[in-house]
Amino acid sequence: MTKRVAILISGGGSNMLALLDSMTGDHPARPCLVASNDPAAAGLARAAERGVPTAAVDHRPFKGDRQAFEAALMEPLLAAKPDILCLAGFMRVLTEGFVSQWQGRMLNIHPSLLPKYKGLNTHARALEAGDAQHGCTVHEVTAALDDGPILGQARLDIQNDDTPETLAARVLKLEHQLYPAVLRRFAAGDRSPVFLPEP
Ligand code: GAR
Repeated sequence: MTKRVAILISGGGSNMLALLDSMTGDHPARPCLVASNDPAAAGLARAAERGVPTAAVDHRPFKGDRQAFEAALMEPLLAAKPDILCLAGFMRVLTEGFVSQWQGRMLNIHPSLLPKYKGLNTHARALEAGDAQHGCTVHEVTAALDDGPILGQARLDIQNDDTPETLAARVLKLEHQLYPAVLRRFAAGDRSPVFLPEP
């Protein structure tokens, strides 16, 4: 049975586009919704151009009431009946209640080699630490931030002249390879992690 995939974004949605573009042919999943907490997120228009249904639930009127925001977000999500929920640059912290409703069915991509550098500013933190390598991780979402079983990682060597910006750009390219590879495997019912060869 083909799996239905909903994707949550907050910004440009380049990872979301990589996922959409991958779900063709013999892929075991198809997109059913792209939703955002920001009605102005550029990714919404890009998804709509590809004929994917979109929804926006602005988090700002909820003034920090996460549960009320999530209840509103649940409406278009439940209507789309996804089997899998992919967070792709979705920059809102989710409550335990929301996460538990999608347990085992929600993935996230994070721009670091987890468990290193949970949270924000991952590229600058890897540089400041003098790390030899950096990369990205796709993991199952659990209640703890940027935690949960790892479903895939891709890594690269940090160059002497890397800045947070150059590193972010190179890691983002890896993200676009890793997330579709993990989703394809996950949608086929295989939770064994994907480790991409180093570029
Ligand atoms: C990506 O680098 C993603 O890993 C990161 O935001 C960017 C979104 O880019 N996510 C996080 O930091 C989540 N904590 P995109 O909108 O072009 O996919």
